[in-house]
Amino acid sequence: MATIYIDASSGSDAAGRGTLDQPYQTLGYAIFSTSTDSVDSTKYLFRASAEAEYDAPTQSATKKAKKDAQGLEKKRQKAAQEEKQLQEKREKRERMLEESKKVIITEDESLPKATKAKIVKLEPLRGQRVRVSGWIHRLRIQQELTFIVLRDGTGYLQAVLTGQLTKTYDAKTLELEAAVELTGTLQVVPEGKTAPGGHELTVDFWRTLGSAPGAEDAFSNRLNEQSDPSIMADLRHLVLRGETASGVLRLRAALLSAFRTTYEAHNVLEVTPPCLVQTSVEGGATLFQLPYYGQEAYLTQSSQLYLETCLPSLGDVFCVQESFRAENSHTRRHLSEYTHLEAELAFITFNDLMSHIEAVICETVDKLLANPIAASIIQQLNPGFKAPARPFKRMAYAEAINWLNEHGIKHEAEDAGGNVIKDEQGNAKMVEHAIGDDIAEAAERQMTDIIGTPIFLYGFPAELKAFYMKKMPREKGATGPIFTESCDLLMPNVGEIVGGSMRIADMEELFEGYKREGIDPKPYYWYTDQRKYGTCEHGGYGLGVERFLAWLANRYTVRECTLYPRWPGRATP
Ligand code: 4AD
Repeated sequence: MATIYIDASSGSDAAGRGTLDQPYQTLGYAIFSTSTDSVDSTKYLFRASAEAEYDAPTQSATKKAKKDAQGLEKKRQKAAQEEKQLQEKREKRERMLEESKKVIITEDESLPKATKAKIVKLEPLRGQRVRVSGWIHRLRIQQELTFIVLRDGTGYLQAVLTGQLTKTYDAKTLELEAAVELTGTLQVVPEGKTAPGGHELTVDFWRTLGSAPGAEDAFSNRLNEQSDPSIMADLRHLVLRGETASGVLRLRAALLSAFRTTYEAHNVLEVTPPCLVQTSVEGGATLFQLPYYGQEAYLTQSSQLYLETCLPSLGDVFCVQESFRAENSHTRRHLSEYTHLEAELAFITFNDLMSHIEAVICETVDKLLANPIAASIIQQLNPGFKAPARPFKRMAYAEAINWLNEHGIKHEAEDAGGNVIKDEQGNAKMVEHAIGDDIAEAAERQMTDIIGTPIFLYGFPAELKAFYMKKMPREKGATGPIFTESCDLLMPNVGEIVGGSMRIADMEELFEGYKREGIDPKPYYWYTDQRKYGTCEHGGYGLGVERFLAWLANRYTVRECTLYPRWPGRATP
């Protein structure tokens, strides 16, 4: 007589074999795993724990275990049934796919020749045969009817496949994001129906150019709107295919183009300064260093100093250049690499500078709103957006300090070493603002959001600002901090989007600036030379393109406003 061992404490139904060394865990499973006709001739020995002796189970335990075994058997049968059905389905699909390989479609040579076109250029080709290539953006498959929304980067096109066209191997294996070429007649959609562009392609011939996987690897399984932010970041290359991300990037392109047109109208010339530099602009703390042929070099923080050197050569200049900031800021408005739009203007006053910044921004926004494609993206991403009213509010630094105090907006107190002072519970001590304080990001944003319009905040204390900033004229005998001809443009929801200033034109004053900031003037010889050979009053500014775009397109973070964002710890993809 065969003997099966069951140990309730250390046995295992899944891994056990019913032997003394490898007992099962439950009597039910032991009975289930014995063939039906040998159950009565099998001896079952059970123990509740490793310390107990093996013994025959009680009658009632055996009765209950037989019931459990029946339940397990039912489960097994159901699973086998399901597996069978699945297998049949797989085989059916295999057969169907084999059959589909026999369906060969060819282009009807007697039809008029198709014109190859991008989706954006289709309207004048209505009623004609066209050939369009793109990616499957949306897909709905019905019996002998396949609806496609095709995307080619210039727009979206609705297309319909019918009859034999839906029976080929390519049709049966078509998935989202496959690249295809569709040929057919472009027809205006009937009254009451809508489609992108107002027309639809009735396909008469098509082919897959690059297939995309289905099942677990399908595009919609890798990414959807609920995906975790870190997955979205890793899969940014796929996120870019979506309507929102591509809309933001399309708007970004229109924005840069509109800025360029605006600068052209103001006779400001574009230059392309280097990224690899050996001088800092905004202080050593945020420099990315790299070895450079045995020397030390940095990734540029700002092209300002180079733009200044262009003034006597080219007149007013601007650049669109990547700037790099090695700051450990994980906020929604900081990137480690960002696109910096900077301009520098000669023979101006501080007032001229602020008026120019305002004009460039407003004229650029007007151009975008007059451009149907850009305007429709703005409406889609930021419904109800209106160009800001001019003139922008101007608020002196000292006025802002008063405003913050009147509105009860405090900041964290710091000790002499710059450490936040905390109470016994570990909460930061909050104090009123005073002249000389750096207005922190949080306070600045609160103020901007309450005021709700663009604000030029100007005249910051020299101590808080870079070495190159021109000081405001002061009355003889005046005491207190020295203010500078500097301005930040603050926008609701985003905060600072522009930082600018008049620059020190006087050589002596510049040397004082180097000294105050502890900068060795030697590597700056070329910058100093500007003051030696025909110095002039001049000023300029830098605009963070991603921040501007976040404001314009109402994006939560600047990370959405650049192709492949970089922030602390992230340089992939
Ligand atoms: O205020 P910032 O540091 O000014 C300068 O670099 C000047 N040298 C520019 C000039 O006068 N030519 O930076 C200017 C702008 C900010 O207002 C902000 O919009 C953007 O650059 N910016 C950043 N954007 C994204 N991520 C960061 N880490 C940024 N740091 C500055």
